[in-house]
Parts: sequence; C-alpha cells; structure tokens
Amino acid sequence: MENYSHIFDEITSKIISLVEESKSLEALVEIKNKYLSKKGEFSQLMIKIREVADKKSFGEAFNAARKSIEEKYDEKADKFNQELLNKKLESEQVDITLPGNTLSRGVENPFFKVKKEIEDIFVSMGYTVETGPEIDFDKYVFELLNIPKDHPARDMQDTLYIDNNLLLRSHTSSIQAHVMEHANGKPIKIICPGKTYRRDDDDVTHSHQFAQVEGLVIDKNINLGNLKATLELFAKKMFSKDSKVRFRSSYFPFTEPSVEVDVSCFNCHGKGCPTCKGSGWIEILGAGMVHPNVLKMSGYDPEVYSGFAFGVGIERVAMLRYGIDDIRRFYQSDIRFIEEFSKKVED
Ligand code: DAH
Repeated sequence: MENYSHIFDEITSKIISLVEESKSLEALVEIKNKYLSKKGEFSQLMIKIREVADKKSFGEAFNAARKSIEEKYDEKADKFNQELLNKKLESEQVDITLPGNTLSRGVENPFFKVKKEIEDIFVSMGYTVETGPEIDFDKYVFELLNIPKDHPARDMQDTLYIDNNLLLRSHTSSIQAHVMEHANGKPIKIICPGKTYRRDDDDVTHSHQFAQVEGLVIDKNINLGNLKATLELFAKKMFSKDSKVRFRSSYFPFTEPSVEVDVSCFNCHGKGCPTCKGSGWIEILGAGMVHPNVLKMSGYDPEVYSGFAFGVGIERVAMLRYGIDDIRRFYQSDIRFIEEFSKKVED
C-alpha cells in the first residue's frame, strides 16, 4: 500500500494558511473558486489518479487532504457569518423602551351628532327620513312650493345656477315637492335632512353652505295645534325638559299661515341672558300649514287634506345647544374644536 499524502501536503498547507489569513467571506469564496472548484488547482490533482498504481490509497489521501481544507474553510466561514450577523443585530437593534406612536382616536363632528339626534327624535315620533338631490330643478326648489318666477321671495334664496333651470337647492323644502310627487295623494310624514346652498354673507352665523332638516306631515285633519305639539316635543328633547315654544306670525310662500318659532331660552329659562339676547326666547325655525296651492300642485285636494311643514337649520341648533360661536368651526376640521364639543355632546 502506497502513501500518497506527500502529493497533497504542500498545496493543502498553502490553502489552509490562505484560509486562515483571509479577511472576509468574499476572500474565502475566492479561495474556494481558485482551488476547490471543479477546475481549481486542488481538484485538478485528482487527474493524477490515472498515473498511480494504488488508486484506492490515492483517493483516500486526496479525500483526507480535501477534508482538512474543508474543515478549516467551514470554521472560517462560520466565523465570518457570525460576525456579519452580530453587526446586523447591532445596527437593527430596537429600543423597546421608546414610547410608541400613539394612534389618536377619532371623534365625531358635533354637527353629525346633532343631525343624528334630530333624526332620532322625529323617527321616534313615527317620521321616516327622506333625502333628495342637492342639484335640483327650479320646479322643485321654487315652482311647486308656490314661488313662481319673479317672486320676490327668490331674492332671499339666491343660489348658484348651473343653467336657467338647474340650481344648487337653497333649502331642503325642495324634497317636500319630490316626495309629494311620488306619494300619489297618500298621507306623508317625513323629515328631510340635507345640505343647502345660498348666496349668503359669510359671517359667524351664516355660510354659503349649511344644512337643514325639513319636516312635512300631510293627512286629513292636520292642524296648527299638531304642529305646535310636535315642535314643543322636539324642543323638550333637543334642548331642555321644560322648553316651551311660541309662534310668531311670519311669511313663507309655501305655508299659510306661516310662523316663526321661538324656543324658551334653555340657558336662563326665560329671564334674559346673552344667549337669548335678553329676550328669554330664541328663534329656531320657520314653519306653517302647507299652502293650498302647494297641495293642489302636487295632487292633494286641500278640501280633504291639510298638512304642516317646518324647516330647521342643523348648525343653528348645534350652535345654540352647545354655545358654539362661529358656524365655520363645523367645517374646519380643527380636531381641538371637534374633541371639545364632542365631549360636551356626550355629557
Ligand atoms: N325653507 C325655509 C328656509 O329655508 C324654511 C322653512 C320655513 C321651511 C317654513 C318650511 C316652512 O317647511 O314651513 O328659509
């Protein structure tokens, strides 16, 4: 049995010392390519097997040498990999003691709370909620509400026109006309919340866009007393248990008689304070008995049917109830305002 280990000794110790001296994983890979790959210097020594007599011993010597190189190689590669891992762990270290990014919880704008509250109050009285288009035809916004072309009442509700016939609705009363058109002369008991648009001075109590809730009841034997009882119940639920309402006569083309409705001041209970400007009463809405012309135009016989209607500004109710001084606050998305008043609404 021959001993061929001397053939490999020199190159083996050379490769091992190169491995030992290598400074990086890349350098190590280079050594592998140069000596241990198929065409590498070390691997090529295997060719000599053709020339030797004791091929088995040659093979064993080759494998032993290769094993000793590979052991060194793996040892060194492990060391480099460990170093890389340590570096990575160090650079990616997470300080779990740092405070996290807190997600602030959203709150509902008081406008929507009040809108829902108004809806709930009327739904509890058996009303259904209807909506209608914000861009509407002259017919629904004015004509069917007894406001013909050139009627002076149009001046107070000037708005943006898309063309001669199509406009941004200036009040939610337009929804009355739509609902009546489809009711086929049957009784109606609805509220209609929605946005409205007007050419208005933008000041602390007015905005070119605001929201109203319209109310409409049509049936046999509906009278002004029903309207008063309804609005008084609304005021009690919305403002204060002992709220009262009073009617002052007014004018709207779509109601006859028409009334301006005041609620007793829930702040001073009628004594007089800045909220009610010293009068003890606060104006909250317009209302009246549906005008016979309006009934007729929508297919109701005014001799058989009667009805009442009212329109209330949502922002106005919210401002009064929560002492909000500027209507624009509802639209500005100032989270400080929204949070403060949302708390008040919950109280
Ligand atoms: N549409 C009126 C406005 O915007 C409000 C109003 C008054 C509605 C009297 C009514 C009503 O239904 O009967 O000024």
